Amino acid sequence: MANDRLTVAVLGPGGVGGLLAALLSRTGHRVICLAGEETARVLGTDGIEVRSGHFGDFTARVEADTVLREPVDACFVAVKATALDAALERVPAKALGDAGLVVPFLNGVEHPAALRKLYRSEQVAPAVIRVESTRVSPGVIEHGSPFAEVDLTGDTAPRERVDALAGALERAGVRVRVQEDEAAVLWAKMSFLAPFALLTTRYGVPLGDVRTRHRAELVALTEEVAAVSRASGAPVDAAAALARYDAFPPGTKSSMQRDAEAGRTLELDAIGGALLRAAERFGVPVPVASGLVRELAGPDGS
Ligand SMILES: NC(=O)c1ccc[n+]([C@@H]2O[C@H](COP(=O)([O-])OP(=O)(O)OC[C@H]3O[C@@H](n4cnc5c(N)ncnc54)[C@H](OP(=O)(O)O)[C@@H]3O)[C@@H](O)[C@H]2O)c1
Repeated sequence: MANDRLTVAVLGPGGVGGLLAALLSRTGHRVICLAGEETARVLGTDGIEVRSGHFGDFTARVEADTVLREPVDACFVAVKATALDAALERVPAKALGDAGLVVPFLNGVEHPAALRKLYRSEQVAPAVIRVESTRVSPGVIEHGSPFAEVDLTGDTAPRERVDALAGALERAGVRVRVQEDEAAVLWAKMSFLAPFALLTTRYGVPLGDVRTRHRAELVALTEEVAAVSRASGAPVDAAAALARYDAFPPGTKSSMQRDAEAGRTLELDAIGGALLRAAERFGVPVPVASGLVRELAGPDGS
């Protein structure tokens, strides 16, 4: 990354990936989106159209392919957890080379280990993103939140590469923090997301109803998740998490809830499943979380 112009591949150009791809392209970086044939065709022809009150409405040209064919400075991974294994076949380690960063934006805490089985450990620099962004059709992204914030971690990655990427994202308009402690960053997001996602999806109501009609369950679950997070190395405070839920607009929905409403497969295993596995590993009792995950998984456990 000696010069300022980066080459960034984006695996999964949807709500998150499509937004970041368009923002980076708009500021002069070379962006190669990796997607299925039809989406790659649309993106290669029409580019990515972003509709955003925060970033403005614009269309950005991107390259698009079904598979990575050359080394890049960074490869963003922005598919849903349920599509991760299949999608990674589009990023052969040989093509990526041994220098490019692999930067996953998925919610959850287990995917970095899966990536480190495929790519060199030092290349994997997990990120979390706080944003509300939706792929309404291939190449068309609606960004609804008045912000896009990224925490980029690089415990194992070369710091100058992580900093160069952070700088590029910053200049594209994304607020970026580079953090030292990968587990703390991933669990901080998980501890906020898991109670919100599990309860809004289980009851099919927005956050405002969860925090009033299901308050006792929200409090108990938030405390369980905070205890698992602390055991996993993230100093999470349940009271602070509850205060954040109380500050959100009452109509706020989780993306898991929106997936359920649309009949899409849920990221239940990456969020609820991972939470239960960590709880078991550290011997933290999580009766409320266990019950919710069981109910959401249904009788066949899927
Ligand atoms: N959206 C948000 O606001 C938000 C906020 C924070 C965190 N997250 C997390 O970010 C991750 C991505 O979520 P998202 O909402 O951006 O998902 P999304 O809008 O559904 O986008 C996923 C993209 O992955 C593509 N894809 C699926 N299977 C693929 C495959 N085998 N090969 C290549 N591409 C494939 C889809 O392609 P097609 O376009 O062809 O369907 C789609 O463009 C999730 O873990 C989510 O929890 C999302």
